[in-house]
Amino acid sequence: MNENENKDEDEKKNLEYKIITLGDSSVGKTSIINRFINDIFDEDIDPTLGIKHNFKILEINDKKMKLSLIDTNGQEKYRALSVSYFRHAHVVLFIFNLNDPLSFNNIQDWINTFNDNNNKKVILKYLIGNKNDLEQRVEQNLIDEFAKNNNVTYMSTSAKTNSQINELFQMIGEELLEEEEKKTNNSFRSKSSRTLSKRKDKSKKKCC
Ligand code: GTP
Repeated sequence: MNENENKDEDEKKNLEYKIITLGDSSVGKTSIINRFINDIFDEDIDPTLGIKHNFKILEINDKKMKLSLIDTNGQEKYRALSVSYFRHAHVVLFIFNLNDPLSFNNIQDWINTFNDNNNKKVILKYLIGNKNDLEQRVEQNLIDEFAKNNNVTYMSTSAKTNSQINELFQMIGEELLEEEEKKTNNSFRSKSSRTLSKRKDKSKKKCC
């Protein structure tokens, strides 16, 4: 195991997860994070300069998990910098603006670039239609079909009115815990089946 893989294992044991937000400029990536972390919304927020890191401890079923939110900038000039963070992400939020069809059309590009650079470390992928307080100019059936074809969970949000923001992160937390429990059960099962087969071996030796 190399140094990075060791670090990944430590992160998982301590229930630390990295969540990255991707999507065109101005779709509301920073606003969603600000709403979740500090419960604030700013109409005149500045574009993210490069990458910004935020943290929040989430408590679910008496278990605490640390969420590190990696906020990227959607502009082309920052693309290479953003890509360098893709391989660390456990959860990715592909975000578009429900009022801006172009931002939805560009999501496929974000998904392709992410898939090419994540090293398959990602556990959960979500498609987020933000700004649901404005007129929806992207057809719902196109969104649903896209989410199905790309195997991503869809949710519509508004950072402005605080619609579905806490619900989104609560769902992420619950799904991460479920995945963790599945993994623990699988490794417990495979350990106990190894013990069982060892016992069988011993009993074989005795009888023959
Ligand atoms: P970059 O950092 O340039 O990539 O942009 P971003 O995707 O982080 O968008 P940001 O959060 O900076 O928001 C862009 C603009 O959209 C700002 O004027 C926000 O106030 C506004 N905005 C963000 N979320 C919402 C929302 O849910 N509804 C409405 N009406 N406006 C929003």
